[in-house]
Amino acid sequence: MIKIKDSVYWVGVKDWEIRRFHGEEYTTHRGSTYNSYLIMDKKTVLVDTVWTPFHEGFLEDLEKDIGLGNISAVVVNHTEQDHAGSLAYLMEKIPETPIYCTKNGAMMIKKHFHKDWNLNVVKTGDSVDLGDNRLIFVETPMLHWPDNMATYVSGANVLLSNDAFGQHYASPYLFNDQVDQGELFQEAMKYYANILTPFSKFVKAKIKEIAGLNLPIEMICPSHGIIWRENPMQIVEKYDQWAGDYNEGTAIVLYDSMWGATKKMALAIARGLGSRGVGARVFNIGKCDRNDLITDIFRSRGVIIGSSTINKGILSSTAALLEVIKGLQFKNKIAASFGSYGWSGESI
Ligand code: FEO
Repeated sequence: MIKIKDSVYWVGVKDWEIRRFHGEEYTTHRGSTYNSYLIMDKKTVLVDTVWTPFHEGFLEDLEKDIGLGNISAVVVNHTEQDHAGSLAYLMEKIPETPIYCTKNGAMMIKKHFHKDWNLNVVKTGDSVDLGDNRLIFVETPMLHWPDNMATYVSGANVLLSNDAFGQHYASPYLFNDQVDQGELFQEAMKYYANILTPFSKFVKAKIKEIAGLNLPIEMICPSHGIIWRENPMQIVEKYDQWAGDYNEGTAIVLYDSMWGATKKMALAIARGLGSRGVGARVFNIGKCDRNDLITDIFRSRGVIIGSSTINKGILSSTAALLEVIKGLQFKNKIAASFGSYGWSGESI
């Protein structure tokens, strides 16, 4: 357990090994973390747990550090397994302990765990007094599940934001001012682009709503990656920018090619764009990491995609990428397609 601010402790897990998250969907080149927090005041409250495979060490450490019986309440900001996976193991030890969650959170806890726990439904503005600190709950539906909420610790002035503002990034350090800024923002942008893009309108609205609450925020503690301690609002400003149908004015040319014809076209398109002063990155979809491509698409204004024709359609790597793009619902981009003819030319 590591003290991060008066009354607030990090009790999470660093997952140095993970290279694929959400099943096989999201690559995590730098690992990840499952951040759990303890608020220690007259009452001790645990906010979120860790992913299921880590439950044993997590509970052993909590028992050693504070004794599980001393936990007065558990806050479940989000029921996805990477944060609530250890909940059942914890509740076996402290079955009567109240759990605070949103209405959707309660519904999902019942459906996931089939247990009759002491669930206390909270909504935005509801609070729990701990002594010197007060927990104030802020619902954040669709950031990125219907059950999500954030917990603000009034007194310590810390926002426990759960998935929002996170990064899949394991580091020897805990705080944003201690790590390589390039790595940190690359992971934060990849996380936004691949996970939060479809929910951008909710991100915009929630930032406005939280700003309207006028809560002093001295630290933002997400449930993955690095804690924003130095100028914590910088990541909120980034989210506001990213949620505004973001692009950097450049283009991206993506292709897959069987015998090189589509590749030749891709390179010619990029040269053409360059000659008109538009910087274009070029990637072979079949050889690149899909989530990294999504991050580059997120940054681009122009998205130009090409494939050879095969079996009256497109190559499978291009099809998979298009399926992800469709789901993410990028906006404010110009798209075009190209491809080689084969003998029938359906790819375009
Ligand atoms: Fe939505 Fe980190 O889980």
